[in-house]
Amino acid sequence: MSVSQHSCAVAPEGLPPSPWVGRWLGLLAPGASVLDFAAGSGRHAREARRRGLRATAIDRDAAALAGIGTDIMVRSADLEAGPWPFGDERYDAVVVANYLFRPRFALLAALLAPGGLLIYETFAQGNERFGRPSNPAFLLAPGELYERSRCAGLLVLGYEHGRVARPKPAVVQRVCALRPRAAEDVPVLG
Ligand SMILES: C[S@@+](CC[C@H](N)C(=O)[O-])C[C@H]1O[C@@H](n2cnc3c(N)ncnc32)[C@H](O)[C@@H]1O
Repeated sequence: MSVSQHSCAVAPEGLPPSPWVGRWLGLLAPGASVLDFAAGSGRHAREARRRGLRATAIDRDAAALAGIGTDIMVRSADLEAGPWPFGDERYDAVVVANYLFRPRFALLAALLAPGGLLIYETFAQGNERFGRPSNPAFLLAPGELYERSRCAGLLVLGYEHGRVARPKPAVVQRVCALRPRAAEDVPVLG
């Protein structure tokens, strides 16, 4: 892929949890651990907590996380520069929304425990017709999350790429991918 690395910053204030994230969080057992990565105000950490999951939110913007509420572990760190801020902890799900930084994708995937889910949704090429992010460096190429997940050794359970009307018109790409416990590991989808 010839697209350069990027992160993106679009104000997350007031956004409801993503239905895509909610759909896949529903597969987790009560008490499962969820990391909201580049969490912003932590809408998905809060949604995980609301569902009886154990939530951690991490972002470099400590002020954004300040109002996240109780029973959520909060961490502040730069996720793109300097030492990787995770030790050997692993999560049953890692949620990433409206954020992308390609160079550390493999490290991100390695945060998944065996059986863990990567739940990812962000903007894709074509979004520039609707507004920000419009920088080509901030937009996923067709199939990119699918391919990056596969290359990280994950089993893709769900993938979508297309236009959405809410919370604002946009072109997005979404993946949910599993770190298999064993080659034959497949989840119960419901
Ligand atoms: C568009 S917001 C998305 C927030 C949240 N994921 C959501 O969807 O509501 C992007 C987030 O990435 C965070 N971010 C950007 N660069 C970062 C970095 N180098 N380290 C940690 N967080 C970063 C920003 O602080 C911001 O909260």
